[in-house]
Order: sequence, then structure tokens, then C-alpha cells
Amino acid sequence: MSKVLESKKYVGPKNIWKDFFKDKKHGGHRYSSEDFLAMEAREKLFHLDGGRTLLDFGCGAAELLTYYAPQYEQLVGVDFSESMLEEASKRIKKKKLENIDLILADHETLWENLDYSFDRITAAGVIQFLTFQEIDKFIFEASKHLNKGGKLVFFDIMDSRLYPLWKIGLFSQNVDGFKILCKTGFEFRTIISAILKNRPRDILGYSHNPNKIKKIANKNGFEMICVQSMYYEYKYHAIIFRT
Ligand SMILES: C[S@@+](CC[C@H](N)C(=O)[O-])C[C@H]1O[C@@H](n2cnc3c(N)ncnc32)[C@H](O)[C@@H]1O
Repeated sequence: MSKVLESKKYVGPKNIWKDFFKDKKHGGHRYSSEDFLAMEAREKLFHLDGGRTLLDFGCGAAELLTYYAPQYEQLVGVDFSESMLEEASKRIKKKKLENIDLILADHETLWENLDYSFDRITAAGVIQFLTFQEIDKFIFEASKHLNKGGKLVFFDIMDSRLYPLWKIGLFSQNVDGFKILCKTGFEFRTIISAILKNRPRDILGYSHNPNKIKKIANKNGFEMICVQSMYYEYKYHAIIFRT
């Protein structure tokens, strides 16, 4: 039965992203249709590659989690946004799914709220809201809650090598030199302004070089393979496992 469990100790430092997501109700997928979400979930289930129990960190409105549910015995969705979890609850009820629990927690408080460990720990479109240090700590903690043979699968991480090119329009169908120049100027101005105001450069979060994520995974005793995201040109998936 789906229920939202209050985190036992939900404190943690004030986080700019917590404010950003506090009223949000959707995960910002490229298309919001059920057909598209089902396609995205199928791609992700392929990479998740089995397991019986799954933790979805930053599950949002459970737009993907509810598609994972029929393939797993027990699932837990975690998010620090109450509005997202409210939407997730509604969605789970509507789909009459009985094997999902929801927990209100963040990347730090989550671990003390778990009663068991998992075959898969995943996150879709979430890792860009964590710094490298936070990702390192997340992988370290996750490794203690992962069953033997388990995997961490981080979907749709923004690639710091491709994202700037996508932003200036290099991947658009009608590439236009003048437009690229204008967008480059605009981006440059946005970056300078963000630095001066000490704010994140982009509401989509930080982009992370896959080699850096791999180094962090290796440091924590894991191997990592990186695959291109099927539906987002500038994103990749990190599949992290022990050999
Ligand atoms: C872009 S949405 C993706 C939602 C969902 N994974 C999906 O694909 O539909 C990112 C989600 O991560 C959550 N989130 C971001 N940083 C988080 C953190 N540090 N702890 C818990 N949740 C976080 C946000 O509240 C939001 O629901």
C-alpha cells in the first residue's frame, strides 16, 4: 500500500534545489504524455536489468516509478519535495499499485529511514542536483544498502561536454550560425550573472563529466559503464556495479 513516511530526522542544510522543487508537480520530461513516459520507462527498465527490490531516489511524481512497479516485488520512492510526493501518491492510487512506499527525505536523511537493502538503487534526472562531493557520499551510503550483485543506475545525467553545445542550438534541426552566435552570447551573459549572484548557472542543475563520475564510482569500489540517453541528446546514464 502506498504511504508517505515522514523522514525520522528531516533537517539538513537549506538547499537551493529544495526551494526550487517545493511546489513542483512533474519531473519535466520532454513530453508529458503517458505514451512517452512508458517509452522512457521501458528504456530504463532495460538498463535496470532485473532485481526484485528497487529504490528510486528523487522519484518526483512517480512518473517512471509507477511503470517500474509491475516488474518489482517491492519499491521505495524517495523525494524531498512534498508536492511531488503528493502527486506520486495520487498516481500510485490511480494505478492501483500496492508495492510502493514513499519517503520524504533528501540525499542525506534518506539512509536512516530505510528498513532493508535493495537490488537496484536508481535515480532519473536527479544527480545533476548534487555536487561531486554529494555524489561521492551518496555512492558510499548506497553501497551499504545494496544487496549482493546489486546495481546503482543513475539515469539522465547532463554531460558537461554536450550540454553547452545543445544549449547553443548545435543539435537543433535547423542549425543557423547567427542564432548560435546570439545564443552563445546569451549563455555567456547568464553564466557571468550566475557567478556574480553566487547562484546555480542553470535551473536544470549542474552538468557532470562522466569521467569524473566514473572516478568517484571507482574510488568507492565500483565499476561504471556509461551509455548515451535514448531520449535526451545531452544526457547519459551511469551503470555502476561491482565485478
Ligand atoms: C527532474 S525531477 C525527476 C523526477 C523523477 N525521477 C522522474 O524522472 O520523473 C528531479 C526530482 O528529484 C528531486 N530531488 C532533487 N534533489 C534531491 C535531493 N537532494 N533529495 C531528494 N530529492 C531530490 C526533486 O524534488 C524532483 O522531484
